[in-house]
Amino acid sequence: KKAIAVMTSGGDSPGMNAAARAVVRTALYEGVEVYGINNGYQGMVDDDIVKLSSRSVSDLIQRGGTFLGTARCMEFKTPEGRKKGFDNLMKHGIEGLVIIGGDGSLTGGSLLSKETGMPIVGLPGTIDNDVWGMDYTIGCDTAANTIVDAINKLRDTASAHRRIMLVEVMGRNSGWLAMMAGIAGGAEYVLVPEVKYDLDEMCHELKAMYDAGKRYSIIVVAEGAGSAVGLGQVVEEKTGIDTRVSVLGHIQRGGSPTVEDRMKASMLGEKAALAIISGATNVVFGFNEGKVVSVNLFDAVNNQKTLDPELVRLARVLA
Ligand code: F6P
Repeated sequence: KKAIAVMTSGGDSPGMNAAARAVVRTALYEGVEVYGINNGYQGMVDDDIVKLSSRSVSDLIQRGGTFLGTARCMEFKTPEGRKKGFDNLMKHGIEGLVIIGGDGSLTGGSLLSKETGMPIVGLPGTIDNDVWGMDYTIGCDTAANTIVDAINKLRDTASAHRRIMLVEVMGRNSGWLAMMAGIAGGAEYVLVPEVKYDLDEMCHELKAMYDAGKRYSIIVVAEGAGSAVGLGQVVEEKTGIDTRVSVLGHIQRGGSPTVEDRMKASMLGEKAALAIISGATNVVFGFNEGKVVSVNLFDAVNNQKTLDPELVRLARVLA
């Protein structure tokens, strides 16, 4: 009988549970055994691997986080760690592995595949939306909605006080999440690491707008573009306008996944399970322009996803 395993790795994201659930239920439907690897690569190295049933993934579709647990594992960054992980997979008769995670996690998978030949299928699980070859990652929609919800609230108080509000959002080196939330939240400025910004010019514009009667503005700052706390001080000094800063932090990682994240995670989970069962390897499934796409795992981890210039332009036009 065939056996596969599923794991989540790196920063958790809302919808990882829905994806893992879909992998498990699809495999069982196909008559294939499924193992869950707890706590990401750490669990693989420590042999924290358990057989899953359909019931193991009950009551999960609505939950953020990941029931499998996740970790950022240093030991797996070494060839010895990866060999240990591989040996544990072999012990359980696991013939293929579905990895749900971001860039770093998929890189770990690509090394495991290269060094041991273990078949790997990846799914993009990260709020950062930074996986190459696709315009969506599992969790980015829920995180963007959480940010927009925060922006809506900040608008009320910003308007009441005629303030400038800076909102720092996650995304690591990528401005994707910030751009999605900035456009959907109607931000005046979206500062992202991919695009140079001129602080003097921005402050000059802000001052002119407030002089002309503007009551408030929202500036979304991607964490990769700089610290909003520091930027806020500069903005207040340069404009003379009352400025406040909110760093949203890990609030963005949690919460019940949106319909979009649940749907796409479920569809991708099924694809991944069917692919790994039929012997596919070194492929990452994702969504691009609304359609399921498959990307070579090595291409996905060796290329840097660029920010869509159309979105950068749109954010400017609509501000
Ligand atoms: O990759 C997801 C992410 O939330 C990034 O946006 C952020 O930079 C990082 O993880 C935070 O990592 P940690 O949860 O380990 O503090």
